[in-house]
Amino acid sequence: MPHIICFRRAILHILPDHVLHRVRPAMAEMERCAQGERDMEYTTLGRTGLKVSVAGLGCGGNSRVGIGAGKSIAEAADIIRAAFDMGVTYIDTARLYGTEPAVGLALKGRQRDKIVISTKSTIRLEGERISPDCLANHLDESLSHLHTDYVDVFFLHGVSLLDYDYARDVLAPAILKERDKGKFRYLGITEPAANDPEQLTIRRAVDDEKCWDVMMLAFHMLHQTARANVFPKTQAGGIGTVMMYVVRNIFSRPGLLVEKVRGLIEGGKLSPEGIDPDDPLGFLEDEAESLIDAAYRFSRHQKGADTVLFGTGNVDHLKANIESILRPSLPEAYLARLHALFGHLTGVGLDSPEHLRR
Ligand SMILES: NC(=O)c1ccc[n+]([C@@H]2O[C@H](COP(=O)([O-])OP(=O)(O)OC[C@H]3O[C@@H](n4cnc5c(N)ncnc54)[C@H](OP(=O)(O)O)[C@@H]3O)[C@@H](O)[C@H]2O)c1
Repeated sequence: MPHIICFRRAILHILPDHVLHRVRPAMAEMERCAQGERDMEYTTLGRTGLKVSVAGLGCGGNSRVGIGAGKSIAEAADIIRAAFDMGVTYIDTARLYGTEPAVGLALKGRQRDKIVISTKSTIRLEGERISPDCLANHLDESLSHLHTDYVDVFFLHGVSLLDYDYARDVLAPAILKERDKGKFRYLGITEPAANDPEQLTIRRAVDDEKCWDVMMLAFHMLHQTARANVFPKTQAGGIGTVMMYVVRNIFSRPGLLVEKVRGLIEGGKLSPEGIDPDDPLGFLEDEAESLIDAAYRFSRHQKGADTVLFGTGNVDHLKANIESILRPSLPEAYLARLHALFGHLTGVGLDSPEHLRR
């Protein structure tokens, strides 16, 4: 880092004024980047008007803020507090994740109205659809675990296309009565990504834009379906969007990307032209710090993507991921290459969390 600052000072001394005023912002950005000092940025979650950090901490996935790797509730709460201290104001959890108590603990002593919390309930239990009363009980239990009177967004979690009409016509109208009592502010829906590779639920839900204030959906470099099928409609309807599966396993486990890409080529789903099967995204190395850095920046800067969830149980990863989400977009030429090579793929890298597969 010091050599970047020295280089900056040397350049500033020799450049003429008319050039100086044009390069100064980029140099300052370089310096902030080297020092890891970017300030958090905030955005609006669609028509809800909720102000959320562009980097949202996901308390599910494989990490479950460390609980997936054996951390205690208290240790998971420390990770969540570290995220708050880095400017994160959006936290996503769910009844299913077992992390609501950690969020509740982390909230103690914090100003509740400065933090946006979403939680979720699945709509099937032991294979059966749940009743509206049962859904309302789940919401009450979540509030109790979270030690709060309300959540900002209550999501119906992982709704399959088969259950979609039931969710929209039976559960949604019933649970809105709980909203009217002040228990949550906005209603959302999330997709069962691993079981819905074509995003049929979300593609259906965007046509019912009055019903859903917020949608959580998978979007990443090798699963870009939402660019054409979802974002134009969420933007038109003012639906808030939360990105998930942005890194998951495919970009965080060395070797998995190569394995998937080889499989896609062998299966005839991906042309080998222009792709190095031993390093399929190697061309991003010039512009990104790592594959994970590229993955977060790719999703964060997608038009129509409001906020990007990242899941981790590791404070170093937390810091690195926030830095990545705050970095500028990948350059246009690289985005165009990612769109051209992989834009037709759907359902890649949408594995279920390990604790649910065991
Ligand atoms: N249907 C649904 O509603 C649904 C489904 C899936 C996810 N979600 C939500 O989306 C959130 C994000 O999804 P995700 O958990 O898959 O998160 P993600 O950010 O896509 O991937 C997280 C994985 O990458 C690893 N990782 C993260 N940062 C890293 C880094 N800098 N270096 C190396 N490895 C790193 C994590 O392990 P470490 O712990 O070691 O960092 C974890 O295994 C979830 O937490 C949940 O809130 C919702």
